[in-house]
Amino acid sequence: MHRKNGHKYGGAVRRGKAAMLRAWMSKILDVLDMAAPSLLLRLFYVSAASGPLRERFIDYGSREAAPAPKAENGYEAQRKRIGGTAGALLDSVAAVRVPHAWFNHFYVLSLLVSCFWASQILSDGSFFEWLATREVVARSASMSLDQAMLAWAMMTFQAGRRLYECLDNHKPSASKMWVGHWAAGLAFYAAMGVAVWIEASLRSLHIDPPSLRTFVGLPIFVLASGIQHDVHDHLASMKKYSLPKHPMFATCICPHYLAECFIYLSLAIVAAPQGHILNWTIVSGLMFVGINLGVTAKGTRLWYARKFNDERIMLKACMIPGIF
Ligand SMILES: NC(=O)c1ccc[n+]([C@@H]2O[C@H](COP(=O)([O-])OP(=O)(O)OC[C@H]3O[C@@H](n4cnc5c(N)ncnc54)[C@H](OP(=O)(O)O)[C@@H]3O)[C@@H](O)[C@H]2O)c1
Repeated sequence: MHRKNGHKYGGAVRRGKAAMLRAWMSKILDVLDMAAPSLLLRLFYVSAASGPLRERFIDYGSREAAPAPKAENGYEAQRKRIGGTAGALLDSVAAVRVPHAWFNHFYVLSLLVSCFWASQILSDGSFFEWLATREVVARSASMSLDQAMLAWAMMTFQAGRRLYECLDNHKPSASKMWVGHWAAGLAFYAAMGVAVWIEASLRSLHIDPPSLRTFVGLPIFVLASGIQHDVHDHLASMKKYSLPKHPMFATCICPHYLAECFIYLSLAIVAAPQGHILNWTIVSGLMFVGINLGVTAKGTRLWYARKFNDERIMLKACMIPGIF
């Protein structure tokens, strides 16, 4: 009798939990359905930036060539925390690697996405109409058309330059990255293709004269792109792994990563909607970039220090001179 009652009670609890889960799921779907595309993009970038298992998966490229000692490695600390079957499963997932040179896929995709959205916007295509209408209904977007065009052009230039560098600077390398890293990169660039124009208002289809935002954002973009190009050229000229001699490396380990952050910051300034100093959808993309590059820069410093057996390297900044 007692057991029968327990059984009944257990069943009722399970049904109650399932109903609660269904109610939550439907609430989440309602919110997602009503949310502006720009808010969904922000959610994507911020949740991707806070990936809890980053240490297990992040090392790629040169840094894999000489793993850090167990005590220093975040991955090893994580391995201790998550052991057993879950740990073994994570290890086998982490073992799926693709060539580091597949970075060029990011820029091919980014260029394709830019062309796709440009053609949609110019021809009032159905995908553009659908997304832009949802944005306007959910929020009062207030970025003007000229801002969207400039941000689109900057992003397209960035992808084109990076693709050119990858093809031009190509040197034989066996270095690899985790397949999830590659997939996240593709998702990042696909989303950025929308982020640069989504806050533009459908109602302001006029061209405004260049604003203060343009005069601040564009020079930052040009300077950061130039510096990054120089640094990439320098790294490409190094036949084997060694300490970079370019002056930009004098005070920091990864100046090309800092330049990348400035490129997205300049985009966020140029594309800031009326009444805002930054475009927060692009800033959330910048958070994703900054956090991932920050972790990679830290791993790079440790790798240099170990590979060249020089503790002084640890005194240099990873990415931001004097700060980080
Ligand atoms: N937007 C984003 O989310 C995102 C994410 C990641 C990277 N990026 C950008 O993409 C660019 C490339 O990033 P990355 O992480 O691939 O840079 P990286 O690891 O520094 O590698 C860049 C190139 O330089 C080579 N290299 C690196 N250190 C070297 C050394 N000490 N000696 C000789 N060659 C060396 C690498 O060779 P190997 O191929 O042999 O390693 C690779 O060919 C950066 O500007 C970064 O900002 C953007």
